[in-house]
Amino acid sequence: MRQEDKEKQLIKSNGTYLITGGLGELGLIFAKYFLEQGPVNLILNGHSELDDKRRLKLEELNQMGGNVVYIKADITQRKEAALLVEKARERFETINGVIHSAGIIRDAFILKKKRAEVEDVLGSKVYGTNT
Ligand SMILES: NC(=O)c1ccc[n+]([C@@H]2O[C@H](COP(=O)([O-])OP(=O)(O)OC[C@H]3O[C@@H](n4cnc5c(N)ncnc54)[C@H](OP(=O)(O)O)[C@@H]3O)[C@@H](O)[C@H]2O)c1
Repeated sequence: MRQEDKEKQLIKSNGTYLITGGLGELGLIFAKYFLEQGPVNLILNGHSELDDKRRLKLEELNQMGGNVVYIKADITQRKEAALLVEKARERFETINGVIHSAGIIRDAFILKKKRAEVEDVLGSKVYGTNT
């Protein structure tokens, strides 16, 4: 079986997928890829309110078919992360997969990084994965 066909089998038609950092640069690549494979439900998460720019991106994705919603939650906060999953399940019942692509970029040579910058970068990666 071709690699492309194997990948398609992994994405369930009408399945539900949660993408943290879903409206970020990487998240949007994942979201578009999922939508190109067929009808899916996508829950995109970020820690900001939906402003006009984000709303426009969401509309563009919804025009690709499928059902794309945005849920705001800071995934470094256990309670917010739990509420995100709860809201997602309320809306779509099952979550078939999670892409964890939320992250903060503070690019700098590691020896020059300040503690707060390291905490920012690791926060969503470590706590986000843990919660
Ligand atoms: N882009 C690349 O080529 C690339 C390559 C390798 C690795 N990465 C890593 O992948 C991660 C994402 O990169 P990106 O380029 O997509 O960054 P980006 O465009 O800045 O997007 C980051 C996304 O993560 C969300 N986010 C950050 N902290 C969050 C939190 N605590 N809770 C919920 N959502 C949070 C942001 O939400 P808001 O919209 O609300 O701010 C945004 O949607 C980074 O850690 C980066 O280092 C990126």
